[in-house]
Amino acid sequence: MTIAQLQAEGAAALTAGDGLPNPRREARWLLARALGQTEAWLLAHAEEPVAAATEALFRTWLSRRAAGEPAHYIVGSCPFWGRLFAVTPAVLIPRPETELIVECALTVPEPERPRILDVGTGSGCLAVTLALELPGASVAATDVSPEAVAVAAANARALGASVRFTAGDLAAHVRGEFDLVVANLPYVPADEIPGLAVEIRAHEPHVALAGGEDGADLLRTFMADLPRLLAPGGHAMLEMGPRQRAGLRAAVAASGLVEIHRGLDHAGIERVLVLRKA
Ligand SMILES: C[S@@+](CC[C@H](N)C(=O)[O-])C[C@H]1O[C@@H](n2cnc3c(N)ncnc32)[C@H](O)[C@@H]1O
Repeated sequence: MTIAQLQAEGAAALTAGDGLPNPRREARWLLARALGQTEAWLLAHAEEPVAAATEALFRTWLSRRAAGEPAHYIVGSCPFWGRLFAVTPAVLIPRPETELIVECALTVPEPERPRILDVGTGSGCLAVTLALELPGASVAATDVSPEAVAVAAANARALGASVRFTAGDLAAHVRGEFDLVVANLPYVPADEIPGLAVEIRAHEPHVALAGGEDGADLLRTFMADLPRLLAPGGHAMLEMGPRQRAGLRAAVAASGLVEIHRGLDHAGIERVLVLRKA
C-alpha cells in the first residue's frame, strides 16, 4: 500500500467507535514514526509504497491507539526541551508545561557549578535536561519508583548526561545541600482523578498523578524538607496546578523561604512556585 492509502486507513481506524478528536493528524503522526520520517516527508512522498514490515507495525500501533493507549507509550518516546526521552508506562509522559521549570532554572542566577536535585524524576526529563543545559552542574535525581529510576537512568545514558540516581521517598534519604531543587511531584486532587481522560487515568502511573485530597499533600511534605536541602541563596522550583496554591500558603510561610516568582504557562496559569533561601 502507499503512504496515502495507509494514512487514510489509519484515520478511518481512529475515527471508528468512540474515536479520537484528531484521527487524521494522529494517523499521520503514527505513520511518520513507523517510517522513521517527519510528517512533512510523508506529505511529499504520498504515493510511495510502504514496506510490509512497516505496514504491519503501523497497524499494530493503530489498534493500540484505537484502544486508548497514549501515543507516546506506543512509540516509546516523547520530546522534552528539544530532546527525545524514552517513556514506558512506569513513567509519566513529560508535559510541555514542565518545560517552564527548565525556563525558570535557566534564568535565576546560579553558581558556576550548581548542585542540582530533581525529586520525583520520572523519565528524568528535568534532571537530564538541566545536566545537559548547565554543563558545570552536578545533578542528583530521585523517585519513589525504582522502575521510573531505571527509565531515567537509561535516558541519561542515551543522552550523554551525568546524573546520580537514587530511589526513595521524597528526599528523606538525600544528604547534602543544593543550589537548585526542582520537583514536579504528583498534584492531581483526589476528586479530579475520576474525571481524568481515560488515556491518562488507565495508562499513566497512579503514583505519578495522585496528590491527595487537594493535590498538595506531597508538595506540603516536601516543602518542610526544603530548608535543609537548599544552600543559602539556593532556589526551589515546584510545579503545581491552580488548585494547590491556597493549600501551600501556610507551608511556604512555615518554611521561611521567600517566594520570588511564579511561573505562568502559556494559558496564564500559575505553574511553578519559585522559592529562595535567604
Ligand atoms: C508528575 S510525575 C513527574 C515526572 C517527571 N519529573 C516529569 O516532570 O515528567 C511525579 C513523579 O513523582 C514520583 N513520586 C510520587 N510520589 C513520590 C514520593 N513520595 N517520593 C518521590 N517520588 C515520588 C512518581 O513516581 C513520578 O515519577
